[in-house]
Amino acid sequence: MRLRRCAHLVIEPRERLSFDLSLLAGGASGVRHVVDLVAIVPHAPAVEVELSADEAALALAVSSAEWSTEDELAQLHAPALLASLRTKDVLVAEGSDADRRDRVVRAAHWRPLAAAAHYASRWQGVDVEQAGRDLAENTRSALVDHLGEAPPVVRERCRPDERVSLERQAPTALDALLDRRVTCRNFDRTRALSLAQFSSVLYRTYGARAVDEYAPGVHLLKKGVPSAGGLHPTEAYLLVQRVDGVAPGLYHYHPVDHALEPLRLVDAEEAAALARRFVAAQAWFVDAHVMVVPTSRFARTFWKYRRHPKAHRALILDVGHLSQTMYLAATELGLGAFITAAVNEVDIEQAFDLDPLEESPLAVTGFGLRGAERNEMEFDPLHAVWPAT
Ligand SMILES: Cc1cc2nc3c(=O)[nH]c(=O)nc-3n(C[C@H](O)[C@H](O)[C@H](O)COP(=O)(O)O)c2cc1C
Repeated sequence: MRLRRCAHLVIEPRERLSFDLSLLAGGASGVRHVVDLVAIVPHAPAVEVELSADEAALALAVSSAEWSTEDELAQLHAPALLASLRTKDVLVAEGSDADRRDRVVRAAHWRPLAAAAHYASRWQGVDVEQAGRDLAENTRSALVDHLGEAPPVVRERCRPDERVSLERQAPTALDALLDRRVTCRNFDRTRALSLAQFSSVLYRTYGARAVDEYAPGVHLLKKGVPSAGGLHPTEAYLLVQRVDGVAPGLYHYHPVDHALEPLRLVDAEEAAALARRFVAAQAWFVDAHVMVVPTSRFARTFWKYRRHPKAHRALILDVGHLSQTMYLAATELGLGAFITAAVNEVDIEQAFDLDPLEESPLAVTGFGLRGAERNEMEFDPLHAVWPAT
Protein backbone atom coordinates (compact mmCIF):
# COMPACT_ATOMS: atom_id res chain seq x y z
CA MET A 1 0.00 0.00 0.00
CA ARG A 2 1.23 3.50 -0.83
CA LEU A 3 0.55 6.64 1.19
CA ARG A 4 0.93 10.38 0.71
CA ARG A 5 -0.16 13.49 2.57
CA CYS A 6 -3.40 15.06 1.40
CA ALA A 7 -3.15 18.01 -0.99
CA HIS A 8 -4.09 20.77 1.41
CA LEU A 9 -3.51 20.97 5.12
CA VAL A 10 -3.49 24.04 7.34
CA ILE A 11 -2.47 23.61 10.98
CA GLU A 12 -3.89 26.27 13.29
CA PRO A 13 -2.47 26.74 16.81
CA ARG A 14 -5.78 27.29 18.68
CA GLU A 15 -5.41 28.59 22.22
CA ARG A 16 -7.91 27.90 24.98
CA LEU A 17 -8.06 28.40 28.73
CA SER A 18 -7.95 25.36 30.96
CA PHE A 19 -8.44 25.19 34.73
CA ASP A 20 -5.65 23.30 36.52
CA LEU A 21 -6.15 22.66 40.26
CA SER A 22 -2.46 21.87 40.81
CA LEU A 23 -1.54 25.44 39.84
CA LEU A 24 -3.73 26.80 42.65
CA ALA A 25 -1.46 25.22 45.26
CA GLY A 26 1.42 27.46 44.12
CA GLY A 27 -0.73 30.56 44.63
CA ALA A 28 -1.46 31.00 40.88
CA SER A 29 -4.92 31.57 39.40
CA GLY A 30 -5.24 27.96 38.27
CA VAL A 31 -5.88 29.08 34.70
CA ARG A 32 -3.58 27.70 32.03
CA HIS A 33 -3.31 28.58 28.35
CA VAL A 34 -3.39 25.42 26.26
CA VAL A 35 -2.54 25.35 22.56
CA ASP A 36 -4.37 22.72 20.50
CA LEU A 37 -3.06 21.95 17.02
CA VAL A 38 -6.17 21.94 14.84
CA ALA A 39 -5.61 20.61 11.33
CA ILE A 40 -8.00 21.88 8.69
CA VAL A 41 -8.30 19.11 6.12
CA PRO A 42 -10.63 20.27 3.31
CA HIS A 43 -11.29 16.85 1.77
CA ALA A 44 -12.13 15.18 5.11
CA PRO A 45 -15.81 14.93 6.08
CA ALA A 46 -14.89 16.21 9.57
CA VAL A 47 -12.80 19.08 8.07
CA GLU A 48 -11.19 19.87 11.45
CA VAL A 49 -9.14 17.29 13.35
CA GLU A 50 -6.88 17.70 16.34
CA LEU A 51 -3.24 16.60 16.02
CA SER A 52 -0.64 15.83 18.64
CA ALA A 53 2.72 17.55 18.19
CA ASP A 54 4.16 14.22 16.98
CA GLU A 55 1.36 13.77 14.46
CA ALA A 56 1.86 17.32 13.18
CA ALA A 57 5.60 16.73 12.77
CA LEU A 58 4.94 13.50 10.89
CA ALA A 59 2.32 15.11 8.67
CA LEU A 60 4.87 17.70 7.62
CA ALA A 61 7.54 15.05 7.00
CA VAL A 62 5.49 13.04 4.47
CA SER A 63 5.32 14.26 0.88
CA SER A 64 1.99 15.23 -0.64
CA ALA A 65 3.44 15.02 -4.16
CA GLU A 66 5.21 11.63 -4.00
CA TRP A 67 3.71 8.32 -2.89
CA SER A 68 5.69 6.32 -0.29
CA THR A 69 5.14 2.67 0.54
CA GLU A 70 3.84 1.85 3.97
CA ASP A 71 7.08 -0.11 4.65
CA GLU A 72 9.28 2.86 3.76
CA LEU A 73 7.32 5.10 6.11
CA ALA A 74 7.21 2.48 8.89
CA GLN A 75 11.01 2.33 8.90
CA LEU A 76 11.17 6.05 9.71
CA HIS A 77 8.02 6.67 11.75
CA ALA A 78 5.97 5.04 14.50
CA PRO A 79 3.27 2.83 12.91
CA ALA A 80 0.72 4.04 15.49
CA LEU A 81 1.22 7.64 14.35
CA LEU A 82 0.92 6.64 10.69
CA ALA A 83 -2.32 4.79 11.43
CA SER A 84 -3.72 7.69 13.40
CA LEU A 85 -2.99 10.18 10.60
CA ARG A 86 -4.76 7.87 8.17
CA THR A 87 -7.83 7.80 10.43
CA LYS A 88 -7.78 11.57 10.45
CA ASP A 89 -7.56 11.70 6.61
CA VAL A 90 -4.26 13.63 6.79
CA LEU A 91 -2.48 10.71 5.13
CA VAL A 92 -4.37 9.01 2.33
CA ALA A 93 -3.89 5.48 1.08
CA GLU A 94 -3.88 5.01 -2.68
CA GLY A 95 -7.26 3.80 -3.94
CA SER A 96 -9.13 4.59 -0.70
CA ASP A 97 -12.19 6.82 -0.45
CA ALA A 98 -9.97 9.47 1.18
CA ASP A 99 -7.74 9.30 -1.90
CA ARG A 100 -10.79 9.80 -4.15
CA ARG A 101 -11.89 12.88 -2.16
CA ASP A 102 -8.36 14.25 -2.08
CA ARG A 103 -8.06 13.85 -5.87
CA VAL A 104 -11.26 15.88 -6.33
CA VAL A 105 -9.75 18.71 -4.27
CA ARG A 106 -6.44 18.46 -6.19
CA ALA A 107 -8.28 18.55 -9.53
CA ALA A 108 -10.15 21.71 -8.52
CA HIS A 109 -6.91 23.77 -8.32
CA TRP A 110 -7.73 25.38 -4.96
CA ARG A 111 -5.37 27.81 -3.32
CA PRO A 112 -4.68 25.95 -0.02
CA LEU A 113 -5.62 28.78 2.36
CA ALA A 114 -8.82 29.47 0.43
CA ALA A 115 -9.80 25.80 0.59
CA ALA A 116 -9.20 25.79 4.34
CA ALA A 117 -11.21 29.00 4.81
CA HIS A 118 -14.12 27.71 2.76
CA TYR A 119 -14.42 24.24 4.27
CA ALA A 120 -13.80 25.38 7.85
CA SER A 121 -16.67 27.88 7.68
CA ARG A 122 -19.52 25.52 6.71
CA TRP A 123 -22.29 24.81 9.23
CA GLN A 124 -24.57 21.88 9.86
CA GLY A 125 -27.63 22.01 12.10
CA VAL A 126 -26.79 25.41 13.55
CA ASP A 127 -29.70 27.36 15.05
CA VAL A 128 -29.06 31.08 15.37
CA GLU A 129 -32.62 31.93 16.43
CA GLN A 130 -31.71 32.35 20.09
CA ALA A 131 -28.60 34.36 19.27
CA GLY A 132 -30.77 36.57 17.06
CA ARG A 133 -33.35 37.06 19.82
CA ASP A 134 -30.57 38.00 22.23
CA LEU A 135 -29.28 40.59 19.80
CA ALA A 136 -32.76 41.99 19.17
CA GLU A 137 -33.31 42.28 22.91
CA ASN A 138 -30.20 44.38 23.28
CA THR A 139 -31.22 47.96 23.88
CA ARG A 140 -29.05 50.46 22.05
CA SER A 141 -27.07 51.31 25.16
CA ALA A 142 -26.69 47.64 26.14
CA LEU A 143 -25.20 46.97 22.72
CA VAL A 144 -22.39 49.42 23.48
CA ASP A 145 -22.02 47.99 27.00
CA HIS A 146 -21.51 44.54 25.51
CA LEU A 147 -19.37 45.37 22.51
CA GLY A 148 -17.71 48.67 23.37
CA GLU A 149 -17.83 51.76 21.18
CA ALA A 150 -18.64 51.06 17.53
CA PRO A 151 -16.08 52.23 14.97
CA PRO A 152 -17.29 55.51 13.40
CA VAL A 153 -19.78 55.38 10.56
CA VAL A 154 -17.38 57.17 8.19
CA ARG A 155 -13.63 57.40 8.07
CA GLU A 156 -12.90 61.06 7.60
CA ARG A 157 -9.52 61.84 6.02
CA CYS A 158 -9.60 65.64 6.07
CA ARG A 159 -11.31 68.56 7.78
CA PRO A 160 -14.89 69.28 6.61
CA ASP A 161 -13.82 72.58 5.01
CA GLU A 162 -11.22 70.74 2.92
CA ARG A 163 -13.80 68.47 1.28
CA VAL A 164 -14.69 68.94 -2.38
CA SER A 165 -18.49 68.97 -2.42
CA LEU A 166 -20.15 67.02 -5.22
CA GLU A 167 -23.36 68.05 -6.89
CA ARG A 168 -26.41 65.94 -6.04
CA GLN A 169 -28.31 64.87 -9.16
CA ALA A 170 -32.09 65.01 -9.38
CA PRO A 171 -33.39 61.60 -8.27
CA THR A 172 -34.45 59.22 -11.02
CA ALA A 173 -36.40 55.98 -11.11
CA LEU A 174 -33.17 54.18 -10.16
CA ASP A 175 -32.93 56.20 -6.94
CA ALA A 176 -36.55 55.37 -6.10
CA LEU A 177 -35.81 51.69 -6.69
CA LEU A 178 -32.69 51.80 -4.52
CA ASP A 179 -34.64 53.56 -1.75
CA ARG A 180 -37.28 50.82 -1.80
CA ARG A 181 -34.66 48.04 -1.57
CA VAL A 182 -35.23 47.01 2.01
CA THR A 183 -34.30 43.55 3.27
CA CYS A 184 -37.63 41.77 3.74
CA ARG A 185 -38.26 39.87 6.96
CA ASN A 186 -42.08 39.84 6.72
CA PHE A 187 -43.35 37.56 3.96
CA ASP A 188 -47.05 36.94 3.28
CA ARG A 189 -47.70 33.26 3.84
CA THR A 190 -51.37 33.57 2.84
CA ARG A 191 -50.77 34.33 -0.85
CA ALA A 192 -48.80 32.75 -3.69
CA LEU A 193 -46.33 34.51 -5.95
CA SER A 194 -47.40 34.61 -9.60
CA LEU A 195 -45.44 32.55 -12.09
CA ALA A 196 -44.65 35.73 -14.03
CA GLN A 197 -43.09 37.41 -10.98
CA PHE A 198 -41.12 34.29 -10.13
CA SER A 199 -39.88 33.82 -13.67
CA SER A 200 -38.96 37.49 -14.11
CA VAL A 201 -36.80 37.72 -10.97
CA LEU A 202 -35.00 34.49 -11.83
CA TYR A 203 -34.30 35.54 -15.41
CA ARG A 204 -33.05 38.98 -14.51
CA THR A 205 -30.73 37.61 -11.84
CA TYR A 206 -29.49 34.31 -13.18
CA GLY A 207 -30.77 34.06 -16.78
CA ALA A 208 -28.25 33.97 -19.65
CA ARG A 209 -28.90 36.67 -22.23
CA ALA A 210 -26.39 35.15 -24.66
CA VAL A 211 -24.01 32.21 -24.91
CA ASP A 212 -20.68 32.95 -26.55
CA GLU A 213 -18.03 30.47 -27.73
CA TYR A 214 -15.03 32.43 -26.54
CA ALA A 215 -12.48 29.78 -27.55
CA PRO A 216 -12.99 26.30 -29.01
CA GLY A 217 -15.10 24.45 -26.46
CA VAL A 218 -15.03 27.34 -23.98
CA HIS A 219 -18.48 28.87 -23.59
CA LEU A 220 -19.12 32.07 -21.68
CA LEU A 221 -22.51 33.37 -20.61
CA LYS A 222 -23.67 36.95 -20.87
CA LYS A 223 -25.84 37.79 -17.88
CA GLY A 224 -27.19 40.94 -16.30
CA VAL A 225 -24.53 40.55 -13.58
CA PRO A 226 -20.75 40.61 -14.02
CA SER A 227 -18.68 37.53 -13.21
CA ALA A 228 -14.92 37.05 -12.88
CA GLY A 229 -13.59 35.89 -16.26
CA GLY A 230 -17.18 35.77 -17.61
CA LEU A 231 -17.27 32.22 -16.25
CA HIS A 232 -20.47 32.49 -14.17
CA PRO A 233 -19.62 29.61 -11.81
CA THR A 234 -22.66 30.28 -9.59
CA GLU A 235 -25.59 27.90 -9.89
CA ALA A 236 -29.06 28.68 -8.53
CA TYR A 237 -30.82 26.01 -6.47
CA LEU A 238 -34.39 26.76 -5.45
CA LEU A 239 -36.64 25.85 -2.59
CA VAL A 240 -40.10 26.79 -3.84
CA GLN A 241 -42.84 27.12 -1.22
CA ARG A 242 -45.66 29.19 -2.70
CA VAL A 243 -45.58 29.95 -6.43
CA ASP A 244 -48.65 29.61 -8.67
CA GLY A 245 -48.15 26.71 -11.05
CA VAL A 246 -44.93 25.42 -9.45
CA ALA A 247 -45.26 22.50 -7.04
CA PRO A 248 -43.44 23.05 -3.72
CA GLY A 249 -40.04 21.42 -3.96
CA LEU A 250 -36.37 21.57 -4.69
CA TYR A 251 -35.27 22.69 -8.13
CA HIS A 252 -32.21 23.72 -10.11
CA TYR A 253 -32.48 26.69 -12.47
CA HIS A 254 -31.15 26.26 -16.01
CA PRO A 255 -29.89 29.73 -17.00
CA VAL A 256 -29.60 29.09 -20.76
CA ASP A 257 -32.99 27.42 -21.24
CA HIS A 258 -34.59 29.62 -18.54
CA ALA A 259 -36.19 26.52 -17.11
CA LEU A 260 -36.60 24.66 -13.84
CA GLU A 261 -34.99 21.29 -13.35
CA PRO A 262 -37.12 19.48 -10.72
CA LEU A 263 -35.02 17.61 -8.17
CA ARG A 264 -37.55 16.58 -5.51
CA LEU A 265 -41.12 17.61 -4.72
CA VAL A 266 -41.93 18.08 -1.04
CA ASP A 267 -45.12 18.79 0.91
CA ALA A 268 -45.69 22.18 2.54
CA GLU A 269 -44.58 20.98 5.95
CA GLU A 270 -41.26 19.59 4.72
CA ALA A 271 -40.68 22.69 2.58
CA ALA A 272 -41.04 24.91 5.66
CA ALA A 273 -38.76 22.62 7.69
CA LEU A 274 -36.10 22.73 4.98
CA ALA A 275 -36.39 26.51 4.74
CA ARG A 276 -35.89 26.82 8.47
CA ARG A 277 -32.90 24.50 8.41
CA PHE A 278 -31.29 26.27 5.43
CA VAL A 279 -31.28 29.69 7.17
CA ALA A 280 -30.19 28.32 10.55
CA ALA A 281 -33.66 28.85 12.07
CA GLN A 282 -33.99 32.57 11.28
CA ALA A 283 -37.79 32.50 11.51
CA TRP A 284 -38.19 35.82 9.66
CA PHE A 285 -36.95 34.28 6.39
CA VAL A 286 -38.73 30.92 6.59
CA ASP A 287 -41.93 32.13 4.85
CA ALA A 288 -40.15 33.47 1.77
CA HIS A 289 -42.08 32.19 -1.24
CA VAL A 290 -38.82 31.16 -2.92
CA MET A 291 -35.36 30.61 -1.54
CA VAL A 292 -32.56 30.79 -4.06
CA VAL A 293 -29.30 29.24 -2.95
CA PRO A 294 -26.27 30.44 -4.91
CA THR A 295 -23.67 27.67 -5.08
CA SER A 296 -20.18 28.03 -6.53
CA ARG A 297 -18.83 25.41 -8.92
CA PHE A 298 -15.19 25.67 -7.92
CA ALA A 299 -13.70 23.86 -10.91
CA ARG A 300 -15.35 26.28 -13.34
CA THR A 301 -13.47 29.33 -12.01
CA PHE A 302 -10.32 27.57 -10.82
CA TRP A 303 -9.99 25.90 -14.25
CA LYS A 304 -8.82 29.30 -15.48
CA TYR A 305 -7.55 30.86 -12.24
CA ARG A 306 -5.47 27.91 -10.99
CA ARG A 307 -4.34 28.20 -7.37
CA HIS A 308 -4.82 31.92 -7.89
CA PRO A 309 -4.70 34.06 -4.71
CA LYS A 310 -7.84 36.01 -5.77
CA ALA A 311 -9.96 33.21 -7.23
CA HIS A 312 -11.96 32.29 -4.12
CA ARG A 313 -12.58 35.96 -3.40
CA ALA A 314 -13.96 36.29 -6.93
CA LEU A 315 -16.50 33.53 -6.25
CA ILE A 316 -17.78 35.41 -3.21
CA LEU A 317 -17.90 38.72 -5.06
CA ASP A 318 -19.91 37.08 -7.86
CA VAL A 319 -22.57 36.04 -5.33
CA GLY A 320 -22.78 39.60 -4.00
CA HIS A 321 -23.58 40.88 -7.48
CA LEU A 322 -26.23 38.22 -7.96
CA SER A 323 -27.83 39.02 -4.62
CA GLN A 324 -28.09 42.75 -5.27
CA THR A 325 -29.54 42.13 -8.70
CA MET A 326 -32.14 39.82 -7.16
CA TYR A 327 -33.03 42.52 -4.61
CA LEU A 328 -33.52 45.08 -7.39
CA ALA A 329 -35.45 42.76 -9.70
CA ALA A 330 -37.77 41.84 -6.84
CA THR A 331 -38.11 45.42 -5.59
CA GLU A 332 -39.10 46.69 -9.02
CA LEU A 333 -42.05 44.27 -8.95
CA GLY A 334 -43.05 45.42 -5.46
CA LEU A 335 -41.70 42.21 -3.90
CA GLY A 336 -39.39 41.74 -0.92
CA ALA A 337 -35.97 40.06 -1.04
CA PHE A 338 -33.26 39.00 1.38
CA ILE A 339 -29.80 37.52 1.71
CA THR A 340 -28.29 35.75 4.68
CA ALA A 341 -24.80 34.42 5.28
CA ALA A 342 -25.92 32.55 8.42
CA VAL A 343 -26.75 29.32 6.64
CA ASN A 344 -26.31 25.59 7.17
CA GLU A 345 -24.24 24.77 4.10
CA VAL A 346 -23.92 21.06 4.90
CA ASP A 347 -27.70 20.63 5.25
CA ILE A 348 -28.23 22.49 1.98
CA GLU A 349 -25.67 20.33 0.17
CA GLN A 350 -27.41 17.20 1.42
CA ALA A 351 -30.89 18.43 0.47
CA PHE A 352 -29.82 19.22 -3.10
CA ASP A 353 -27.52 16.19 -3.35
CA LEU A 354 -24.39 18.28 -3.97
CA ASP A 355 -20.85 17.00 -3.51
CA PRO A 356 -19.32 19.80 -1.41
CA LEU A 357 -15.95 19.16 -3.00
CA GLU A 358 -17.42 20.14 -6.36
CA GLU A 359 -20.07 22.73 -5.50
CA SER A 360 -21.10 24.46 -2.30
CA PRO A 361 -23.42 27.29 -1.20
CA LEU A 362 -22.07 30.67 -0.11
CA ALA A 363 -25.35 32.22 1.09
CA VAL A 364 -29.12 31.89 0.94
CA THR A 365 -31.19 34.50 -0.83
CA GLY A 366 -34.91 34.66 -1.39
CA PHE A 367 -37.87 36.72 -2.50
CA GLY A 368 -41.63 36.86 -2.31
CA LEU A 369 -44.71 38.91 -1.52
CA ARG A 370 -44.37 41.27 1.40
CA GLY A 371 -46.70 40.80 4.35
CA ALA A 372 -49.19 43.51 5.31
CA GLU A 373 -47.68 44.01 8.76
CA ARG A 374 -44.17 44.61 9.98
CA ASN A 375 -43.86 42.03 12.75
CA GLU A 376 -40.15 41.49 12.28
CA MET A 377 -37.56 44.25 12.21
CA GLU A 378 -36.77 45.85 8.86
CA PHE A 379 -34.33 48.69 8.36
CA ASP A 380 -36.36 51.31 6.53
CA PRO A 381 -35.35 54.74 7.88
CA LEU A 382 -36.55 56.37 4.63
CA HIS A 383 -40.06 54.90 5.13
CA ALA A 384 -39.91 53.79 1.53
CA VAL A 385 -41.68 50.50 2.29
CA TRP A 386 -43.29 50.98 5.71
CA PRO A 387 -45.10 54.17 6.78
CA ALA A 388 -43.65 56.08 9.73
CA THR A 389 -45.41 55.06 12.95
C1 LIG B 1 -23.54 39.42 3.29
C2 LIG B 1 -24.81 39.70 4.02
C3 LIG B 1 -25.22 38.86 5.02
C4 LIG B 1 -26.42 39.09 5.71
N1 LIG B 1 -26.83 38.21 6.66
C5 LIG B 1 -28.02 38.41 7.30
C6 LIG B 1 -28.48 37.50 8.28
O1 LIG B 1 -27.82 36.52 8.61
N2 LIG B 1 -29.68 37.72 8.87
C7 LIG B 1 -30.44 38.81 8.55
O2 LIG B 1 -31.54 38.97 9.11
N3 LIG B 1 -30.02 39.72 7.62
C8 LIG B 1 -28.82 39.54 6.99
N4 LIG B 1 -28.40 40.43 6.04
C9 LIG B 1 -29.21 41.63 5.74
C10 LIG B 1 -28.66 42.83 6.47
O3 LIG B 1 -28.97 42.71 7.84
C11 LIG B 1 -29.25 44.10 5.87
O4 LIG B 1 -28.76 44.25 4.57
C12 LIG B 1 -28.89 45.32 6.71
O5 LIG B 1 -29.50 45.27 7.95
C13 LIG B 1 -29.29 46.60 6.01
O6 LIG B 1 -30.66 46.60 5.74
P1 LIG B 1 -31.20 46.80 4.25
O7 LIG B 1 -30.70 45.65 3.41
O8 LIG B 1 -32.70 46.76 4.38
O9 LIG B 1 -30.67 48.10 3.76
C14 LIG B 1 -27.20 40.22 5.37
C15 LIG B 1 -26.78 41.08 4.34
C16 LIG B 1 -25.60 40.81 3.66
C17 LIG B 1 -25.18 41.72 2.54
